[in-house]
Amino acid sequence: MYEMKDEYLTGIEQIDLEHKRLFEIAQETYQLKNNEFIPDKYDQIKALFEQLKEYTKMHFQHEEEYMQAINYKKLFTQKIQHEAFINWLEEQELEGVDGEFENQDAVIETILNYLADWLIHHILETDKQIPKPEN
Ligand SMILES: [Fe+2]
Ligand SMILES: [Fe+2]
Repeated sequence: MYEMKDEYLTGIEQIDLEHKRLFEIAQETYQLKNNEFIPDKYDQIKALFEQLKEYTKMHFQHEEEYMQAINYKKLFTQKIQHEAFINWLEEQELEGVDGEFENQDAVIETILNYLADWLIHHILETDKQIPKPEN
């Protein structure tokens, strides 16, 4: 469902590795959601979602540090987009529908879809413009 593709590559190794990891965590969360044989999977899903949030924040920080280091002129635009996305992530709540597993599944799926959509668009339209290191 969610995976890194060659067209998403920026050519900046660390950034590409981190994007790949973000898709992997999203995919793990999706697979866990679909697994009907794990009882009480929602605790694990919540843990993965937390991981996704923390990893995203860390990735944005690394990306911004790199852009700063190369004096990238669009750093500010990137920062605004990153911040808006983190705010959205922080607002997402997985709880509140305990017991209603079907509804819970739909909530998780909606969040993952939005997340992957945002990530793909941001990578293609914004991150791919970041200049590669010179050597
Ligand atoms: Fe990125
Ligand atoms: Fe970015």
